[in-house]
Amino acid sequence: ALRASFAPNAQKTNQSHQYHLQPQASYKVAVLGAAGGIGQPLALLIKMSPLVSDLHLYDIANVKGVAADLSHCNTPSQVKDFTGASELANALKGIDVVVIPAGVPRKPGMTRDDLFNINAGIVRDLVSAVADNCPDAFIHIISNPVNSTVPIAAEVLKQKGVFDRKKLFGVTTLDVVRANTFVAQKKGLKLIDVDVPVVGGHAGITILPLLSKTRPTASFADEEIQELTIRIQNAGTEVVEAKAGAGSATLSMAYAAARFVESSLRALDGDGDVYECTFVESEVTELPFFASRVKLGRKGVEAVITSDLQGLTEFEQKALEALKAELKASIEKGIDFASKQA
Ligand code: NAD
Ligand code: LMR
Repeated sequence: ALRASFAPNAQKTNQSHQYHLQPQASYKVAVLGAAGGIGQPLALLIKMSPLVSDLHLYDIANVKGVAADLSHCNTPSQVKDFTGASELANALKGIDVVVIPAGVPRKPGMTRDDLFNINAGIVRDLVSAVADNCPDAFIHIISNPVNSTVPIAAEVLKQKGVFDRKKLFGVTTLDVVRANTFVAQKKGLKLIDVDVPVVGGHAGITILPLLSKTRPTASFADEEIQELTIRIQNAGTEVVEAKAGAGSATLSMAYAAARFVESSLRALDGDGDVYECTFVESEVTELPFFASRVKLGRKGVEAVITSDLQGLTEFEQKALEALKAELKASIEKGIDFASKQA
């Protein structure tokens, strides 16, 4: 779907500029943190979507040039820039999908939780503005630690009386993208076919790829399962170390976030066959938040696919139990932070 809809130029079928079989550009998307390492390539990929009519780019600095630059691409969306807190409300009015990659990234030696002290407050303030200005929007949280920032966002929305669990998403698409890539490489499969659900959370052992549920069906030796699971869980750190102080994944993250935006827009547009893994409030486990594969529809999460957690291998079942303590603590840390501010 990503390949099909990100064609840089919608195909014109005749001289009168009629577009046939092309989706209508009608959705409004805002990126908060749009001048950053993720924000810039993500904005470019969203600018290429034929489903987007308006692209609002918000940051605390440097966003004017990014918007001017992108606005020259001959794709349908209108790009507008918004700088600083005084322009945030206008950036959000009328928006259908808000994507939040604002905040600091890791450096070598740091965990995602080490970012909490800075990013928790950034996410709280941005989501508070979302609650005031576009409470019906789908909200995609990229800022780390996702295991805590999503509960913070939920708490802020609850305090403002506008929380809809179907519309708040922690973006874990990059874990799926990585799992698909690594599994295809290891098993010599065609990349485009491979789909591995990744559940749990988005940090270390809370990232749980369900290799037994890989489609098309693939069989793995025990060592392959060990090796692939650890590689997927450490892939973020792999990039942080390779960048050696210059940040974390930005390009693969932008690709993954653009896929999640496109899936959300297709769902809003009435496509009845959109599934993504994402960190949401749910009852699939005893934890209040958990990344699961969900069916997306016009109103957000239409169904959480609970069957993914049935019939797990012994390895997966153990890993599921083992991740719960850390994930629970990260969720509670987020909720505590947001409750204390109320
Ligand atoms: P970056 O430092 O390159 O960019 C962050 C941007 O956020 C900057 O432009 C900065 O000005 C902006 N910003 C800071 N405070 C802001 C505020 N209050 N309002 C609006 N914008 C603000 O960082 P990056 O590499 O783009 O990463 C951003 C975040 O995404 C980090 O927290 C990182 O850990 C996270 N991340 C998550 C995933 C995931 O899979 N969910 C993957 C990669 C990175
Ligand atoms: C990732 O998985 O790449 C992101 O969460 C960034 C990081 O800190 O690893």
